[in-house]
Amino acid sequence: MSREVIKCIECGKEYSSDEIFYACPACNNLLEVILPLSDLDRDSLRTAFDSRPLSVWRYRELLPRIGRQSPITMNEGGTPLHSCSRLGERFGVGNLFIKFDGMNPTGSFKDRGMTVGISKALDLKVKAVACASTGNTSASLAAYAGLANIGCIVIIPSGRIALGKLSQAMMHGATVLAIEGNFDDAMALVMKASEELNLYVLNSVNPFRLEGQKTAAFEICDQLGSPPDILVIPVGNGGNSAAYWKGFTEFKKVGLSEDCPKIYGIQAVGAAPIAKAFERGEERIEPISDPETVATAIRIGNPANWKKTIRAIDASGGTSISVSDEEIIEAQKMIAEMEGMFVEPAGAASIAGLIRLLESGRLDRDRRIVCVATGHGLKDPDSAIKNSKKPIEIGPTIEGIRAALHI
Ligand code: F0G
Repeated sequence: MSREVIKCIECGKEYSSDEIFYACPACNNLLEVILPLSDLDRDSLRTAFDSRPLSVWRYRELLPRIGRQSPITMNEGGTPLHSCSRLGERFGVGNLFIKFDGMNPTGSFKDRGMTVGISKALDLKVKAVACASTGNTSASLAAYAGLANIGCIVIIPSGRIALGKLSQAMMHGATVLAIEGNFDDAMALVMKASEELNLYVLNSVNPFRLEGQKTAAFEICDQLGSPPDILVIPVGNGGNSAAYWKGFTEFKKVGLSEDCPKIYGIQAVGAAPIAKAFERGEERIEPISDPETVATAIRIGNPANWKKTIRAIDASGGTSISVSDEEIIEAQKMIAEMEGMFVEPAGAASIAGLIRLLESGRLDRDRRIVCVATGHGLKDPDSAIKNSKKPIEIGPTIEGIRAALHI
């Protein structure tokens, strides 16, 4: 028997965590993992965590039980929480940090979830894993499936994922299926395929994957010594923002922190069903049929986790807004030029959102603010090259340099 259960977020029905469900069989809503937190003692947890390096599995008492002796891991997590003094000064924020989760083994936060998800897949003795992806999930799943020696199928929207991510999925040996259509079509197909072809889905509808992702919230609390006041995070399918909220609330429940931050979920204007729901003041989304944005990772019109994330953001006292492609690229450049971090466009959406929130007077500058940078800039070299100054072609001479520098 596993110690945790999976529970429907709507009707509350509980199921054994040894069963494979992505939605409640009774009412078709999303499921979440419920751990027996009341059995845990704050001081012993603190001692155990402090004895291990900052990483996903440092928090193993707050993660689902892995039946195998050890999880499938590449020491994911333990990513830097970078103090942004230059950006902070520019925007008048004294305490501004970026959690650079692009520093995970495959270059995105997905690895936090995959170490738990793939370990669970082996426990469940599934033969193959699958996902639909805008790129990062496929790169991460391919790597972890290789490590676990298990079959891997990824379904991507043809021609619409960033080059670095595609190259990773291919290099790690996954079977890459490219469909005509967008991410939402790929997602619908993978869910259908999971039933008919018996594939274990490791998209964020899998509640075990989100358990791994919530550890980023634990890490931020430990890196700062207490939770921030504000967390600003890009939102696509809505899994990561919901996972952070679960992490912050669980840390508080076990007595390891006293507060939870307000969560601000940032979407791209052309792919913003969740931000629009907040604008309308409604608890439900209207899917967008043809989402478009330069931040291809979050080019999603029908987010699978919309209900979880709307509830999480609402419960935190935050909100969701959208930013334009121009604001995203501008923020990406500022982070690179002023803070030394190369983040992919979707990862820069949080900073773009922060700037918008500050300038519209919706955030206090004296708060302690953490922005999440979800993926590494090397994932999307095409957009970086397109949006940066071109190299100046010169002859191999000092005169050439002088001419280029106008000196
Ligand atoms: N940032 C990056 C870099 C992402 O790759 C994603 C999602 C998100 C933010 C949004 O996270 O979906 O949990 O709200 N990428 C998925 C993928 C959809 O297939 O790689 P979310």
